[in-house]
Amino acid sequence: MRSHARLDRPRLQFAAAALIAGSLAPAAALAQPLRDLASGCGIGIGAAVTYSALNEPAYATTLGAELSVVTPENEMKWSNIHPQRTQFSFDRADAIVALAEANGMAVHGHTLLWHQQNPGWLTNGGFGRDEMIQILADHIDTVAGHYSGRVAVWDVVNEVFESDGSLRRSIWLDRVGPDYIELAFQLASNADPNARLVINDYSNETINAKSNGMYAFISDLLARGVPVHGIGFQLHVTTSGINVQSFADNMRRFAALGLDIYITELDVRMQLPPTAASLAAQANVYRSIAGACLDQPACGGIWMWGFTDAHSWIPSFMPGWGAALPFDERYAPKPAYDALSARFAECSAR
Ligand code: G3I
Repeated sequence: MRSHARLDRPRLQFAAAALIAGSLAPAAALAQPLRDLASGCGIGIGAAVTYSALNEPAYATTLGAELSVVTPENEMKWSNIHPQRTQFSFDRADAIVALAEANGMAVHGHTLLWHQQNPGWLTNGGFGRDEMIQILADHIDTVAGHYSGRVAVWDVVNEVFESDGSLRRSIWLDRVGPDYIELAFQLASNADPNARLVINDYSNETINAKSNGMYAFISDLLARGVPVHGIGFQLHVTTSGINVQSFADNMRRFAALGLDIYITELDVRMQLPPTAASLAAQANVYRSIAGACLDQPACGGIWMWGFTDAHSWIPSFMPGWGAALPFDERYAPKPAYDALSARFAECSAR
């Protein structure tokens, strides 16, 4: 098992926005893009991107100007990319990866295995263990192989733990057994030997039953040589924030296993409509989470689940809640944007 404090921050390959000669000029002409300030701190700043918004000029230009890492929000999930057993559909995910490359951004692949957004042919197929393993191998070989060398980080498995720290009941656990997780990592490593391979989850950012279960499980995988390189903390939170000290302590123990850390899906929701007070509280949460990442050398960066309130999963999944991102619905920067910018400027200036 690798169990030493790391000396270097995980660094993904991305370029400063100012160096990009592509067609996506900064829309808002903000003083210094977040991606340049974050890069000065040695980290990436990213967002989930939805294919259906790419034709909005303000969406594409703000994204290209401000962010250095892109996660396809839905387009690499099984139901979209593998709609029939013998059919893969890469067009939409390819468009997002091409946009990222045109703007010198790194790509975070999401996700090679999940219990949601699976196609009917998989969930209703009645497959036994051997066939499920064959299907998983075909999927990971094909998808991670298709993007080999172009995806910097893969969420190999997503949300595979229950809140008590045990493995989640799913088609994978039920039909294959617990070794589906190590199988998925081995397959991903074979298909793309250069990608950082991550186990991603929510409500695992502080020290609690779920993160304790993950810590024990991942420690065992590493002890047996399974190629796990990182842990993702989704961080879908509210303006009440999180216990930042516990987050720091939790990151420290995973970093001591030799793992990269990525904040993968940050958003800070509030009850609508926003008020000056809730926007200020939100800014404080963004600032404190960014600070915790900067204080932890294993933290490679912060990706948000979207970047504009015009396109966020929150209002449709949690009615009455929203305004969770640093740009408002008209792509104007909010106090949360200013808080990130100011926090990154502190270390960029050093
Ligand atoms: O594209 C179809 C459209 O054709 C159809 O008419 C419409 C009708 O419902 O659905 C559209 O698909 C929706 C898709 O988002 C794209 O908008 C799905 O119904 C909807 O379920 C799907 O929701 C996504 C959700 O994952 C699925 O559980 C959200 O956009 C996406 O933000 C969310 O992302 C997850 C991460 O993958 C994992 N972590 C939590 C995060 C938030 O829930």
